[in-house]
Amino acid sequence: MGLREDLEAAKATGLGELAAVADAASLEAARVAWLGARSGRMKELKEAFSALPGDQKREFGRVLNEVDAALKEAFKSAQERLAGAVQDAPIDLTMPVPAHRPGSIHPISQVAADIERVFTSMGYEVIDGPHVEEDEFNFGRLNIPADHPARDAQDTFWLSTGKLLRTHTSSVQGRTYAGVGSGALTPPFRRVVVGKVFRYEAVDATHDNTFTQVEGFVVDKGITVAHLVGTIKTMLAAALKRDDVDIRLRPHFFPFVEPGFEVDVRLLHGEGRLAKWMELLGCGMIHPRVLTMGGIDPEQWQGFAFGLGLERLTMVRHQIGDIRLFNGADLRGLRQFT
Ligand code: DAH
Repeated sequence: MGLREDLEAAKATGLGELAAVADAASLEAARVAWLGARSGRMKELKEAFSALPGDQKREFGRVLNEVDAALKEAFKSAQERLAGAVQDAPIDLTMPVPAHRPGSIHPISQVAADIERVFTSMGYEVIDGPHVEEDEFNFGRLNIPADHPARDAQDTFWLSTGKLLRTHTSSVQGRTYAGVGSGALTPPFRRVVVGKVFRYEAVDATHDNTFTQVEGFVVDKGITVAHLVGTIKTMLAAALKRDDVDIRLRPHFFPFVEPGFEVDVRLLHGEGRLAKWMELLGCGMIHPRVLTMGGIDPEQWQGFAFGLGLERLTMVRHQIGDIRLFNGADLRGLRQFT
């Protein structure tokens, strides 16, 4: 085929393609194919033209320019046609609207609400305390003096002011005893706290540096371990939505209780009724020294206290395998608990 036929074919096919483009992507593809500076068809034809002897150039020069101009013109009008199509697009009133996406309550907040409800029904006051806490309330009043090794288990974030991010909601016990000491409060009392706590922790499937704790404590007359056990079972039944929660107590050291225990709960899933025990919380009878420091006479008053991580409890309730779900802000995970 000679150059003349090539030019005519290019004009016919190129104009046809440019007239047919229906969107920006196919317009760009046609531009590259026909007018592209690196490997467009027009570039090939211009190269073929340059290779011609001088007398033939005169013959083809005009045709070449005409085909080039026609393709450029066709590109421009295709471009204008597409721009116009976007502007004139009618509003389609029958188009389905994006699906409605109702929000949902965070699984931790749901369990927190269940816990606050059951404690309110048992006559507890639901209280709160600050995240940025004094050493005195987080440690000192809980019988954890400076240099006590128990501090090592609760490494935290310190502020340049000497305050810290509270490592446990037991800090609210510390505040309560200070309140008794200053005369703002007198026993008996029953209090429960649900709130965020912070630890200097490496994050993995079962540890986070920011999590939620429940702390409950009672100071009254004639309080025994039996009251503690009954209260814990009532709380777990409400939080796990089961009426047959099996627990067991193991002796454990916490500086602010004597005796102190760790409580395990029997997991119902996995291996059936014989399933594993899982450590869930710490508790005990409030240490006489803690009461004395708070100006409460331990000969007259006794109390119990317990503390637990709400994430762990929620993981048991919903059989969630990874604590990072809670603070990860991945809505695909959180939406499953509406
Ligand atoms: N504050 C403890 C912790 O974060 C948990 C705890 C243990 C709280 C025993 C208590 C208690 O009230 O009696 O590890």
